[in-house]
Amino acid sequence: MPPIDLPVEGTTARDEPVRLRALVDGEERPDASSPWDDWGIFDLPPGSDPEHGRAMVEVAGPTGWQPVGDLSWHGVLYGPNLASRGVSIGIALRADARGRGIGAVAQGLLAAALHRAGVHRVEASTDVANTAEQRALERAGFHREGVLRGAQVRADGRHDLVLYACLPGEATAR
Ligand SMILES: CC(C)(COP(=O)(O)OP(=O)(O)OC[C@H]1O[C@@H](n2cnc3c(N)ncnc32)[C@H](O)[C@@H]1OP(=O)(O)O)[C@@H](O)C(=O)NCCC(=O)NCCS
Repeated sequence: MPPIDLPVEGTTARDEPVRLRALVDGEERPDASSPWDDWGIFDLPPGSDPEHGRAMVEVAGPTGWQPVGDLSWHGVLYGPNLASRGVSIGIALRADARGRGIGAVAQGLLAAALHRAGVHRVEASTDVANTAEQRALERAGFHREGVLRGAQVRADGRHDLVLYACLPGEATAR
């Protein structure tokens, strides 16, 4: 995975400052659980996850930057060479930070940082019913590419996902 330069900062449409920063070793994630991450089954052998990165999403508060969620990313291969490697990103915000435009800015900032680090294709996928994430990705500059049928299993069964991607120059926050 290419190292990306953090921190990066942006602003929501309501002028709320948003920052992505590297996680400190051992730091706890904010509680950003939602109906979309009720996995039920954890049966991958330890160490078999793809190599991944994580960043904290923060907003400016009266006492400085406050963590409101986190982003993660991992490589996806479309061929046996580095130029065919894309990066898939994911996000979860605390319930009180949703609906404020932070998700669009954070994902746009991460896509732009990955592009600067040399990644061409930044992907994100989300449940076909997760309209908030689909709108956030579109506002971040991602393009809808198609449906990944039956791609994800959660506690309540198998689900279709929508695949989005953002190529260099397309991210709306940078
Ligand atoms: C999905 C998520 C990252 C989106 O970030 P966000 O900052 O809340 O999104 P925004 O405030 O930018 O809203 C995006 C759009 O979705 C709309 N929206 C928000 N909540 C919605 C809901 N429950 N139903 C339908 N639309 C919704 C907003 O009105 C906005 O639409 P607009 O662009 O037309 O104004 C955030 O809500 C979240 O963390 N949710 C829980 C975890 C999750 O779903 N992660 C993604 C899993 S793949």
